[in-house]
This record gives sequence, structure tokens and C-alpha cells, in this order.
Amino acid sequence: MKNASVVVASLLVCLFSSCGSDQGTTGAPAKPKVATGEDIYKKTCIACHQANGEGLPNTFPPLAKSDYLAKKENAIHQVLKGSSGEIVVNGKKFNSTMPPQTLSDEEIATVLTYVYSSFGNTGGTVTTDEVKQVRGKL
Ligand code: HEC
Repeated sequence: MKNASVVVASLLVCLFSSCGSDQGTTGAPAKPKVATGEDIYKKTCIACHQANGEGLPNTFPPLAKSDYLAKKENAIHQVLKGSSGEIVVNGKKFNSTMPPQTLSDEEIATVLTYVYSSFGNTGGTVTTDEVKQVRGKL
């Protein structure tokens, strides 16, 4: 009996501590507990920017190969504050409104890193610190 309860207890500890499977922020591909960039994208951005990141002509600008992403700071600012009015993406004009996104700095970093490494984009990472810096300047 005593042994059984020890097993149960350590199982519980396992549950609550993810049993050491969390590799932290080492950049390992497996991201066990936090929402992945893809999760956040699907929940937050997909309605407008679409599953393939192409957006919708004349309405939602593309994130796929968007020249707007060249400046990370602008991309972070866009997610933090949104924008309305004219914006030119890959030579095409859009004049619409993106509301500010209510995400944590970490979530913004995660979803933007996903955007940078998806849809034929060239890769790159956005860190929580970079988001913090831009937020600090708002
Ligand atoms: C309600 C629709 C909507 C949602 C949700 C939305 N966006 Fe946008 N996004 C837009 C619109 C519209 C623009 C252009 C705004 C303008 O005309 O000023 C834009 C512009 C952008 C731009 C700059 C232009 C470009 O295409 O590169 C980026 C980057 C961006 N959004 C990223 C995101 C990310 C990441 C998310 C999710 C966290 C997101 N957006 C959620 C509608 C949306």
C-alpha cells in the first residue's frame, strides 16, 4: 500500500511538472506545453490572413513573402498596435483596419517566429525581448 501511494504521488508530481519533458527555451523543436506559433496563428490571425498566409486581395494583405516583414520592428508594432489606413505590401495597396492583438509579448514573439518561418518566408526569429522593446516605445 505504501509503495502504491508513492507511485501515485510521483505520478501526480509528474503531471504537474510535465516530468521534465519541458526543455525550456533552448530552441528545441518540440514545444510541449506552451501554445505553438501555429496554434496562435490559427486562433488569432487566420481569419484575416488565411491559412496559407496569402490574405485576401484588396482586403487583407499577405504575410506570405511580405516585404513588410523585412523590418522586424514594424511587424511587431503591427501586431501590438494594429493599423488602419493605407499600407503597401509587395507593391499592392491595402486600406483597411487591423485591430491591435491582445497577446502577451511571448505569444507575439512565438506567432511572429512562426510567420517568419512559414508561407515561403525566409525564416528568422522574433524574441520576447524584441517585442518588449517595441512595446516599451509605444
Ligand atoms: C481582423 C483581421 C486581422 C487579424 C485578426 C489580423 N490581421 Fe494582420 N492585418 C490585417 C489588415 C487589414 C492589415 C492591413 C492594415 C491596414 O490597411 O493598415 C494587416 C496587416 C498586417 C501586417 C503588415 C502587412 C503585411 O501583410 O505584412 C502584419 C505583419 C500582420 N498584419 C500580422 C498579423 C498577425 C501576426 C496576426 C495575428 C496575431 C494578425 N495580423 C491578425 C488584418 C488582420
